[in-house]
Amino acid sequence: MTTVRDVQPVLTGSKVRLRPWTADDADVVFAACQDAEIQRWTTVPSPYTRADAVGYVTTFAPRAWEQGDAVFAVVDAASGEPVGSIGAHGIPDGVAHVGYWVAAAARGRGLARDALRTLARWCLREAGVARVELVVDPANTGSLRVAEAAGFTAEGTLRQRLVVRGRRIDVVMYSLLPGDAAAQDL
Ligand SMILES: CC(C)(COP(=O)(O)OP(=O)(O)OC[C@H]1O[C@@H](n2cnc3c(N)ncnc32)[C@H](O)[C@@H]1OP(=O)(O)O)[C@@H](O)C(=O)NCCC(=O)NCCS
Repeated sequence: MTTVRDVQPVLTGSKVRLRPWTADDADVVFAACQDAEIQRWTTVPSPYTRADAVGYVTTFAPRAWEQGDAVFAVVDAASGEPVGSIGAHGIPDGVAHVGYWVAAAARGRGLARDALRTLARWCLREAGVARVELVVDPANTGSLRVAEAAGFTAEGTLRQRLVVRGRRIDVVMYSLLPGDAAAQDL
């Protein structure tokens, strides 16, 4: 797999667009990542500083693309504003590990579900991955629902698999394969 790819695309869903992060988005990321839920359930730094946000949009996300992975801003198609982030890592090895968050003010409108379906479609149909997967803390009801609403299959619980905020936790492993019925509907 080469390390340099074409320019990162914009992906169109029914409620969201996924586009590359830009330096101008740092303030949005900084504000969103002050949220207690994002700090609780994801591995973003805590406390989350403005430098973290600048590093995310100007270094982490572009570097991910250069290395064969993909991190996108989730834009609410209705407003045109960036309201979340979704990324897939491991693409060069054929397995896309997905993570996401949506800003508190934009939740409850199906944006995470649409973002996950849109990214999964691209991973399976354009990026050539054999499997899209994500892991969720069993206590993270919202994210469990997002995975299920997007058509992912729960494969089981991996015991003590991850360390989040210094605590080792179980995770539910979800996957979507090209041959799954849900993948035909993406
Ligand atoms: C989890 C998160 C991404 C959900 O974003 P969202 O845009 O509100 O989710 P959606 O509106 O797409 O919801 C999809 C489904 O999940 C359900 N859902 C979402 N949040 C929920 C919650 N907190 N409790 C129960 N159900 C929830 C919705 O009702 C919807 O169900 P439906 O398909 O049956 O109608 C958002 O709350 C978030 O960013 N949380 C903090 C970060 C995080 O947990 N990231 C994931 C780490 S694995």
